[in-house]
Amino acid sequence: MDNRSSHQKSSFVNRAYAWFCAKIYNEWVGIYELIGLIISLGAWSKWRSLVIPYIKGPRVLELGFGTGHLQEILAHRKDLEVYGLEFSIAMHQACQKRFTKKKTETFRVCADGNQCPFLDHSFDTIFATFPERYLEKDAAIKECARLLSHSPDSQLVILGHWMESHHFIYRSLFSVFFTPPSHDEVELERVFKRQGLSLTKEAKQVGGATVWVIIGKRDTRE
Ligand SMILES: C[S@@+](CC[C@H](N)C(=O)[O-])C[C@H]1O[C@@H](n2cnc3c(N)ncnc32)[C@H](O)[C@@H]1O
Repeated sequence: MDNRSSHQKSSFVNRAYAWFCAKIYNEWVGIYELIGLIISLGAWSKWRSLVIPYIKGPRVLELGFGTGHLQEILAHRKDLEVYGLEFSIAMHQACQKRFTKKKTETFRVCADGNQCPFLDHSFDTIFATFPERYLEKDAAIKECARLLSHSPDSQLVILGHWMESHHFIYRSLFSVFFTPPSHDEVELERVFKRQGLSLTKEAKQVGGATVWVIIGKRDTRE
């Protein structure tokens, strides 16, 4: 969770934030969706769903699927073979609850996004919404580049890595709940380039916020 317009936080606040995130991803998963609802003033699910038009199959992988909201939506799509990777066992359990009694499933693995247990060139779209900071570093982007298929349309889509607030309530909430990314656009573009990906970005205005979508494609320029 981050916000380009929020001020740099003190290391104490950053540590407290990291502690809080670790708790809600692992021990307090039951309140994860509620926290999302509060900090987005009810727009969390709408923001997250902005990634859907970018998802093109047939094989797609979601990194850090959390409680599995998008996994559940996409599982019904006949044109997609949906995979998910998530680090937290508690998040897997929350996601499994969604699928219990449903007649659909997705292929989900418990793993670290820095070391994905899939063969090279397995996916046409790899996507993540509101990712953790690991997804701006070389190790994870290298994995994504390795996993993207040879299709010219294959892409990595990251939503919510950057957020901007245009409303004083969002500004206040974001300043508490979103940490600024450690990589600005120039640095992130360098990371992508090092891993053979070009970076473009698109802004989505929803209510009082701008949700940025980052798109990485295999860089075919020399
Ligand atoms: C802010 S939550 C976002 C969850 C979901 N995508 C959403 O939109 O609500 C970040 C998720 O990434 C997971 N995560 C953090 N580090 C990870 C890593 N290295 N590999 C895989 N998942 C990770 C966390 O467990 C958490 O579920």
